[in-house]
Amino acid sequence: MTSPTVLVTGAAGRVAGQLLAGLDDVRLRLLDRRRPEEPSGAQVLVGELTDRDLLARAVDGVDAVVHLAGEPNPDADWADLEAPNVDGFVALLGAAQEHGVRRVVYASSVHAMGRYEAEGRYPIDPTWAPAPCCPYGATKAFDEAIAGVFAHRHGVSTIGLRLGATEPEPFAARQLPGWLGPADLRQLVLRAIEADVRTGMYSAVSANSGGRWSLGTARADLGYQPVLDSADWADRVEDDGAGLTTCRHP
Ligand SMILES: NC(=O)c1ccc[n+]([C@@H]2O[C@H](COP(=O)([O-])OP(=O)(O)OC[C@H]3O[C@@H](n4cnc5c(N)ncnc54)[C@H](O)[C@@H]3O)[C@@H](O)[C@H]2O)c1
Repeated sequence: MTSPTVLVTGAAGRVAGQLLAGLDDVRLRLLDRRRPEEPSGAQVLVGELTDRDLLARAVDGVDAVVHLAGEPNPDADWADLEAPNVDGFVALLGAAQEHGVRRVVYASSVHAMGRYEAEGRYPIDPTWAPAPCCPYGATKAFDEAIAGVFAHRHGVSTIGLRLGATEPEPFAARQLPGWLGPADLRQLVLRAIEADVRTGMYSAVSANSGGRWSLGTARADLGYQPVLDSADWADRVEDDGAGLTTCRHP
């Protein structure tokens, strides 16, 4: 079987940096407004997500998209979120539809469900209604809704991964329940590219002791088998004492 061709957007970013090294078995195409470091053999496109011509070239002939481009700051104002997190994603989905892309895996966030965490309702079941805790989380909840529309009406299979704190290692106590380590990130994205699922949203965290985000559907639907546990770093992280929820503005 030939390797799938996968477009990774936001390829110069922090999450992509942890992901790309593990995508050995795929042919990569990379898009970002900043020039990313190029894994050998990858095609690179530099520009804006809302540039239709660029997007058309980016998605042409790809089997799947891993969409990471966006504003990742949970404290960002709406004015800074709307273009990258809303307009850019809608443009990408439109291009994916026009060019017959089979699967779009996109970065949502635990902030799309952050109110449950603030209210202490654990474990958070990914099938519950979205409950964002901040404008950033609301953009992710919108992305999940519009991704479902494209799957339902336009035949683009969409899988949202509600990423937790995606770091090589957790460095603050607040991150422990929702940490996603690099090996689990890579496994989850690869499973999401291949899974026999039309559309859905999944918790994307490691198998953290005392975790708050249910992994039941990720295990059942995607075959995700996380291998990392933030408890292994618990005695080394900063005690940030911030009420220990992911979102600092419940
Ligand atoms: N880092 C985390 O812990 C975390 C947690 C939850 C969700 N996420 C989500 O994962 C995704 C990636 O996050 P990250 O931490 O790597 O962010 P990042 O800022 O490090 O990387 C995002 C990349 O997207 C690019 N980009 C942004 N807007 C663009 C546009 N309009 N056109 C082209 N390129 C654009 C930026 O240049 C940047 O390189 C984001 O959607 C973020 O919301 C991240």
